[in-house]
Amino acid sequence: MTLPPDLDAFFVANDARLRDELFDLLRIPSVSARSEHNADTARAAQWVADNLSNAGLRATVHPTAGHPIVVGEWRGAGASAPTVLVYGHYDVQPAEPLDLWDSPPFEPAIRDGKLFARGSVDDKGQLFIHMKALEAHLKVRGTLPVNVLVVAEGEEEVGSDHLAGFIEAHRDELTCDAVVISDSAMFAPGLPSILSSLRGLAYFQIDVTGPTTDLHSGSYGGAVVNPAMALARILATMHDANGRVAIPGFYDKVRDWGEKARRDIRALPFDDERFRAETGAPILGGETGYSTLERIWMRPTCEVNGLLSGYTGEGAKTVLPSKAMAKVSCRLVPDQDPREIERLMQAHVARVAPDGITVTVTALHGGRPWRAELDGPLYDAGRRALAAAFGKEPVITGEGGSIPVVGDFERILGAPVLLMGFGLPGENAHAPNEWISMDNVTRGLRAVAVLYEELGNR
Ligand code: BES
Ligand code: ZN
Repeated sequence: MTLPPDLDAFFVANDARLRDELFDLLRIPSVSARSEHNADTARAAQWVADNLSNAGLRATVHPTAGHPIVVGEWRGAGASAPTVLVYGHYDVQPAEPLDLWDSPPFEPAIRDGKLFARGSVDDKGQLFIHMKALEAHLKVRGTLPVNVLVVAEGEEEVGSDHLAGFIEAHRDELTCDAVVISDSAMFAPGLPSILSSLRGLAYFQIDVTGPTTDLHSGSYGGAVVNPAMALARILATMHDANGRVAIPGFYDKVRDWGEKARRDIRALPFDDERFRAETGAPILGGETGYSTLERIWMRPTCEVNGLLSGYTGEGAKTVLPSKAMAKVSCRLVPDQDPREIERLMQAHVARVAPDGITVTVTALHGGRPWRAELDGPLYDAGRRALAAAFGKEPVITGEGGSIPVVGDFERILGAPVLLMGFGLPGENAHAPNEWISMDNVTRGLRAVAVLYEELGNR
């Protein structure tokens, strides 16, 4: 299908207004992890609701014990037409460290076709694409070929604590035939992509305590077990020499993806050296026997995310620390279960912990992995819409990151999920100088607008 001229004309005529609106949304520092930004997060929720109302949807802001969930609804296509649920998140990651940004994170700026701002690609820009594609249909044609629900949450970046419960509680109102999400990246510039897998997550804090206070490392060192060394020893037991996670039972539920999946991955245009250069790491490393993409998409991990103990200031201070702490997260693959991984982690740490310290493992948050067979009309519609907007057939890719709610939607609502991301590799999500390609915004608007036409043709 080609781009419908009337919708295309709407995007062209409204280009400046749309950019101003996206800038307005990006200016709101809706950092879900920081309570001092709670009012901003609430303001972003209201902004999304108001904007959906202006587009012609009925929008409601639902308070939760955390940040609000916005639901937009348009049911003008009638009971016999399919219903599509669009999900996105209006919360963002903290912007720190601020001094590494070339322009302030909440003052959107376009340089070189890139729109820089915290949340530009993850996920406000991508949510905005969906909101405006719906608006185009409703403003230009006064109707949509399908019924639409929009669910925008404000806790994705902190684990989506209240979303699954919300979907359960509103399962009847949220009943739908398909879920569409743009919160991921394309495989490469100009190469539209549909995701077929996401990893899950099990995130832990490990606290080691030894003496009741910090001690003089000369007067006590050698006679009192050092919590920092004990933690290092615990962490060192988590992998074997082949880069495999050495927590007993860790791989019991890991599914083998089979030769076809590995062949499909090999067929993608991927260059190890370019990937390495992007990271700045001296060499790539991981589990023996798997390629880089296989390691990221189909193998689970256990990684230290943060470490804290003792004296870390300037110069030397001779001290034996009383405490040590590590943040450790496991990315999970089908059919690993975050709660089971938690039990295995607890048992493992208890077993390997040296005498002379106490250690606790606290589970912080988690989410299930997801993998789908991309069969059926939803994926055909997605493929055609992306091909129309980007002039190229989409590739099927995997992802190492997590969107825990994807599995919840599938499980609770029984609907297939289409993940079509408009980000690009290297867009600095969660990092300083996050950006989204303006060309991808332009094409994304067209792709989603066409997607509705395609879904209506079902
Ligand atoms: N948009 C990302 C998910 C993602 C990451 C998609 C990388 C594609 C590539 C999402 O906002 C995110 O960061 N998710 C968290 C989930 C966690 C907080 C439960 C993640 O993956 O760390
Ligand atoms: Zn994110």
